[in-house]
Amino acid sequence: MAAPQRLLLENAQQLVLVCGRGEEYLLRDGCARLAVLRDASLVVGLDGRIKAVGQADVIRQQFSGATFERRIDCSGKCVLPGLVDAHTHPVWAGDRVHEFAMKLAGASYMEIHQAGGGIHFTVEHTGKATEEELFSTFQHRLERMQRAGSTLVECKSGYGLNLEAELKMLRVIERAQRSVDIGISSTYCGAHSVPKGKTAAEATDDIVKNHLPKLRELKESGEIRVNNIDVFCEKGVFDLESTRRILQAGKDIGLQINFHGDELHPTRSAELGAELGARAISHLEEVSDEGIAAMARDKCAAVLLPTTAYMLRLKQPRARKMLEEGVIVALGSDFNPNAYCLSMPMVMHLACVNMKMSMNEALAAATINAAYALGKSDTHGSIETGKQGDLLVINSSRWEHLIYQFGGHDSLIDYVIVKGKVVYQNERCGTMSSY
Ligand code: NIG
Ligand code: FE
Repeated sequence: MAAPQRLLLENAQQLVLVCGRGEEYLLRDGCARLAVLRDASLVVGLDGRIKAVGQADVIRQQFSGATFERRIDCSGKCVLPGLVDAHTHPVWAGDRVHEFAMKLAGASYMEIHQAGGGIHFTVEHTGKATEEELFSTFQHRLERMQRAGSTLVECKSGYGLNLEAELKMLRVIERAQRSVDIGISSTYCGAHSVPKGKTAAEATDDIVKNHLPKLRELKESGEIRVNNIDVFCEKGVFDLESTRRILQAGKDIGLQINFHGDELHPTRSAELGAELGARAISHLEEVSDEGIAAMARDKCAAVLLPTTAYMLRLKQPRARKMLEEGVIVALGSDFNPNAYCLSMPMVMHLACVNMKMSMNEALAAATINAAYALGKSDTHGSIETGKQGDLLVINSSRWEHLIYQFGGHDSLIDYVIVKGKVVYQNERCGTMSSY
């Protein structure tokens, strides 16, 4: 009698592997042509990992006699890897809808920030919120991300700024890592803004001398798991030298460098990131040609954020140039009180229309390349034997509908699966279609 398995997805019209040869990322032609199987099935084992994937008749034969905790008939539907959101700021209190109105009336992001709003506004409200309040809204946001297809999400702190408040945010992220069925890569972003009453030099000193040693201690005791370090490197926020000091100190305690750069002004962030061995840099609307070349050479991923460029009416990052030059291009929602979007399908749509990416490139950027940006492409980002069983089933016979139907993911996504377990099921899918 064959061993019991957790999940069988059978007879999918299209099963989008994204890639199938253990690739860490996809470049150029690799993301222009994705690996797709037709009439395919897959099995996830009791350990939550993909046990087998292939032609439906082959899988049927291989697992004849096996029992499954759950089987889902995917006839006429598509199966894709769970989406990876490589950049979010999801822990905060106090929305900024009033600032949206100001921006629509012509105020710029930096004008609002310099007048004490923007990140400062959110820091004030997050500071007043209890851990319980922050956790409850964060959990709700994670569930909304999950319903939009995200199964692995990068989550930043950064609305605390002082040590105590930053640790409060990181504890909230840690609690979600333990209790919510979604993958989380956690990022310390204490250098998100210069706190009121401090200069950038003083804030940098405080981070290097106080925050990071404490973080190291909590990391080593296993109390708080932190994966990445982030800085908002920008004119009027943290300059290149402060950014270098903070990122290097973070790297020295074992964090992956993954930071905001070259967004509103050209700052040579890309060149710095490549030099420091950064895993990823986000934004890059103002990146230089030399910065692009350095990122391609040093395999530093570009995390492009179409919602922010759209919301703030910035010039679009040069995605085509990056793709042509061999940069690893990834995508993130940048969910935060400035850019309120939790949906990676909408992010992919915007990347296609505004950044001129193809649908194949956008899907690679929201799966395997986003997983690379988080240092997780060995376990996430594609459908391959041995990887984590994080999957989507969509109610369409062509996977591209996930991008094409702008804002349509609510009714398109039938199931979201994490480690072979259904964590979201569209109410339309009663017990008739799954058994
Ligand atoms: O990536 N640019 C800095 N950080 C965020 C915005 C955060 C905020 O405005 O609250 C970003 O867009
Ligand atoms: Fe951001």
